[in-house]
Order: sequence, then C-alpha cells, then structure tokens
Amino acid sequence: MTSSSPSNRVEIDVEVNGRRRTVAVDARDTLADHLRNDQKLTGIKLGCEHGVCGACTILMDGAAVRSCLTLAAQGDGRSIRTVEDLSDGAALSPLQEAFKRHHALQCGFCTAGFLISATELLESNPSPTRDEVIEALSGNLCRCTGYQTIVEAVLDAAGQIGN
Ligand code: FES
Ligand code: FES
Repeated sequence: MTSSSPSNRVEIDVEVNGRRRTVAVDARDTLADHLRNDQKLTGIKLGCEHGVCGACTILMDGAAVRSCLTLAAQGDGRSIRTVEDLSDGAALSPLQEAFKRHHALQCGFCTAGFLISATELLESNPSPTRDEVIEALSGNLCRCTGYQTIVEAVLDAAGQIGN
C-alpha cells in the first residue's frame, strides 16, 4: 500500500485481469464494490453480502475468495481475476462452453461465482472426481437449484481440458 489520507482514501497497486494499476480506494470499500463500481466489472454479483452465497467469488493470487468480505485495500500487491477474464473476447472458455452445453444456469445470478470456484478447482486439479467437484462447489449457492447440471458441466470441462 503506498499511501493513505485523512479522507480515508488509500492507494493500492493491484493487477486485475492482467492489467496492473495504481488506484485510490476508500479504506472502507469492499473489493466487490471497488471492482463493480470503480472498475466496472459487473460480472461479479452481490447476493448475500455476508460471505454465504458465493456469488461474489473472485480469484486472488489463484485462490477463490469472497470479494464481499474482502476490503479493497487488501488487494494491494495482489493479482485478481474475475469472470470477465475467463473468455478470450467473444470466445468462451472450455468451462463456459460446458456450462452453455449443459444448460448449467437458469437466472444466471450465481453463475460467475460457480465459474470462478470451478476455475480454481480445475487449475489445481484438472481431472477431479464427481465428489471433488461437489466439494469444490459447496460454497456456492444456486437459488434456482441447478446443481446437477453445474456439476456435469465442470466434469465435462475437465474432460476437455485433460484432452
Ligand atoms: Fe459475497 Fe454472498 S455476496 S458471499
Ligand atoms: Fe439462478 Fe443459480 S441460476 S441462482
């Protein structure tokens, strides 16, 4: 962290989706609010804002974290990836393609969080078992209850990634 001021503004150096910048954030802002409001990364969704639903999940130095429970200032010196980084322009990632193929979303509110949790899993364990997928996604809630197709999509993507 490089500086702070009486107005509670704090400068942080943070890499977001491959782009490192120095930005001023309010010391009280959550990372979710900073990314959504200041960096316009609205793929991140806010459901419970209490660390329960997982809709706000992002990757910080490769680990899935709840951005609603993380202060923006904690992003200092970190590398952050959001759902916006998964695709290559209009080209969806294999995981996103698998979600599409399996109809693994209904309203889609939870989808970004599931995609990020699944990305964390597949980057550390490219060939997970069904139980490992279920365990990895256990911190994400889907109010539309489409869990079965989500698990199938992740297993399908794992097969593709492993090929
Ligand atoms: Fe962060 Fe629900 S909005 S866990
Ligand atoms: Fe609607 Fe999951 S698809 S909350």
